[in-house]
Amino acid sequence: PVKVKKICCIGAGYVGGPTCAVIALKCPQIQVTIVDLNQARIDAWNSPDFDLPIYEPGLVDVVKASRGRNLFFSTDVDKAIQEAELIFVSVNTPTKKTGVGAGFGADLHYVESATRRIAAVAQNSKIVVEKSTVPCRTAESMRTILEANCKPGCRFDILSNPEFLAEGTAIQDLFSPDRVLIGSLQTQEGKDACGALASVYANWVPNGRILTVGLWSSELSKLAANAMLAQRISSINALSAICEATGANIDEVSHAVGYDSRVGSKFLRASVGFGGSCFQKDILNLVYLSESLHLPEVAAYWRQVVELNEYQKSRFSKTVVDTLFNTITGKHITVLGFAFKADTGDTRESPAISLIRDFLAERAYVTIYDPKVDAEQIWQDLAEANPNLPLELIKKQVTLAPSALEACKNKEAVVIATEWKEFKEIDWQVVYDNMTKPAFVFDGRLILDAEKLRKIGFRVKVIGRGSQ
Ligand code: NAD
Ligand code: UDX
Repeated sequence: PVKVKKICCIGAGYVGGPTCAVIALKCPQIQVTIVDLNQARIDAWNSPDFDLPIYEPGLVDVVKASRGRNLFFSTDVDKAIQEAELIFVSVNTPTKKTGVGAGFGADLHYVESATRRIAAVAQNSKIVVEKSTVPCRTAESMRTILEANCKPGCRFDILSNPEFLAEGTAIQDLFSPDRVLIGSLQTQEGKDACGALASVYANWVPNGRILTVGLWSSELSKLAANAMLAQRISSINALSAICEATGANIDEVSHAVGYDSRVGSKFLRASVGFGGSCFQKDILNLVYLSESLHLPEVAAYWRQVVELNEYQKSRFSKTVVDTLFNTITGKHITVLGFAFKADTGDTRESPAISLIRDFLAERAYVTIYDPKVDAEQIWQDLAEANPNLPLELIKKQVTLAPSALEACKNKEAVVIATEWKEFKEIDWQVVYDNMTKPAFVFDGRLILDAEKLRKIGFRVKVIGRGSQ
């Protein structure tokens, strides 16, 4: 197998950046160059005071340890491709917005243009690694494009190496992954390429955790893993609705169910709905794949996981309206948290966006506080989610606050949309004293001590708990 000395990663986003920064840290003998077309993003990765384009606990230390030594960020895509023996394709694969498969299928044009660039500029043979999450058999299209366009004497081996990191814990997940999955063709060349990539990970990942499988299994396993994780959340959220109607408590139910070692206790936390750039996109991708394969029952099964998630978000908005005496028009509501989960500044598909859209449709005033999401991002997301409301009008209805305490002052209701630890630690007595009465709290993340809040005087609604 080839000995990998230089790696290029195309795409300096949430996956390419942390993944390849960790490879550089763990493999000082390998030169890693992460490239992107987005100049601003690369500038941020290179910023002298490490003001990186994404927030991820521990990431700054990893970048500090290697940047300028064997880790480089650049917009010179062609040079990095030419120098490397191994190239990760780590570009975005969002849900298509228009055309065939709109709303379901993955938009593969970023993957295709990166692949075409590799074919156009490579002067010698390369191992090309699909890191992006893609539909099953995308590797075949990549090979066809590469082989049709390459120079004489160049050969390309394609591997699938999906990424399983979760945002907020990316560095931890990369340092000690549950598994690294590598898919290859089962030919001698395919196995050799797989060995070359495995030997990179072997610098820090125990051998037993590096799984090697066929190309198509690897591609499908990524979609399957995300679909099954999201399915657990939709299952517990479906049960949370039953809890609210019966007086059962979803925390007790998930604890009791999760104690069964066959079920396991993780990923059974009821919530206002799952968000993030992956779950919905990857399930819709699986739905589209199933439909294309003429498997409508399979498609309907997975689609329901996303539909239940939509239901959970709108059910929560409705609880807020119903509880505030059936109208929130002109009322002041604070939303604590805008990121899709704690410990990230990422807002993609964040349930907070849907809640705020619903509140604005009811003509409520909304005040938002999030410790990591910047103002520009919030305005951009709200403008996108409310295409019929001009931004000036949105800005009349929405205020951004510099702290949680400030955000809650003189408001009628507080909604917890993200499970940031600091929301648990606020002085809720002070919050109460400064709020309009009756003061309401809606806990969409099960992080607050409802009994304690009730003792202070709050009226409290928690996902998955009947009113007491
Ligand atoms: P991202 O949008 O943060 O980053 C992708 C980057 O690729 C962007 O900066 C974009 O400018 C760049 N890019 C696009 N086309 C390019 C081209 N032709 N040449 C150079 N650069 C190009 O996306 P992400 O969150 O890092 O996700 C990347 C892939 O990884 C997706 O397929 C996603 O499904 C998958 N994934 C994401 C996560 C996650 O937690 N975000 C986890 C696992 C897998
Ligand atoms: C997910 C997968 O976990 C990861 O393996 C994959 O590589 C990318 O997609 P991510 O979306 O970053 O990672 O975060 P994750 O921790 O999975 O949370 C996704 C959403 O589900 C968040 O909105 C989170 O708050 C929510 N969630 C998670 C719940 O509502 N309940 C839970 O029990 C767990």
